Amino acid sequence: MAESDFLEMATTAPEIGAAPRHVALIMDGNGRWAAARGLPRFEGHRRGVEALRRAVRAAIDLKISYLTVYSFSAENWARPREEVQSLLGLLHRFIRNDLAELHGNNVRVRVIGARADLAPEIADLLREAEQVTQANTGLTLVVAFNYGARQEIAAAARALAEMVAEGRLDPEKIDADAIAARLDTADIPDPDLIIRTSGEQRLSNFLLWQAAYAEFVFLPILWPDFDHAALVAAIAEYKHRDRRFGRVQPARSATTAS
Ligand code: FPP
Repeated sequence: MAESDFLEMATTAPEIGAAPRHVALIMDGNGRWAAARGLPRFEGHRRGVEALRRAVRAAIDLKISYLTVYSFSAENWARPREEVQSLLGLLHRFIRNDLAELHGNNVRVRVIGARADLAPEIADLLREAEQVTQANTGLTLVVAFNYGARQEIAAAARALAEMVAEGRLDPEKIDADAIAARLDTADIPDPDLIIRTSGEQRLSNFLLWQAAYAEFVFLPILWPDFDHAALVAAIAEYKHRDRRFGRVQPARSATTAS
């Protein structure tokens, strides 16, 4: 479907559901955006940060409570050294330059992903962003950095295994809630809507546990082109979905289906 058709379909069809509380973004397509213009990949990532700023402002405007962004995966370390350095530099500059504006906009920053093996200056920066904004009550911006869902689930399993080994936990007590409580996202509601740009349709080790009942919207645009209208279109598409969480049709759908 052409992008314009998608946007029209998503914005003109009737809305039947509530707005998502938690939107998660897989910001894909920076490299292709740059390649299409004969620019270095770095330029795609740089423009990707501008799109991230637009996404945060749009999320505030649309009164979304949680916005999670996949900024650097545990697997991204395998990219060429210069590209890894440029992504780290962009994260550094994003927090240095934008923290004051985020704080001024009442945004609470949370970071998920493994911290132990990060360079101290990056780990300190992430901690500072969380500490400075921890009392804010507006949008929670969850930055997934050095994040991998399989690694996150394995760490939760390890923590529970240690408790069992120390005799502090009965294995019979290990259920879905016990695992969820040991994920990085323990105090964050599951995403309602996961958006991936660039036309790719996969999760790439992002929020595998938390996405159990998420709705997916795959946008046919590259991440540096993401803007307020794209978020509105994805949310409009989400609102047409009938979320049943494994149950039968809820009353809302039953009354609108006939
Ligand atoms: C995927 O595009 C994007 C990433 C791996 C990183 C996402 C990063 C940003 C949006 C900017 C950095 C922001 C922060 C806060 C660090 P790709 O490079 O895989 O694109 P391609 O599939 O077209 O090559």
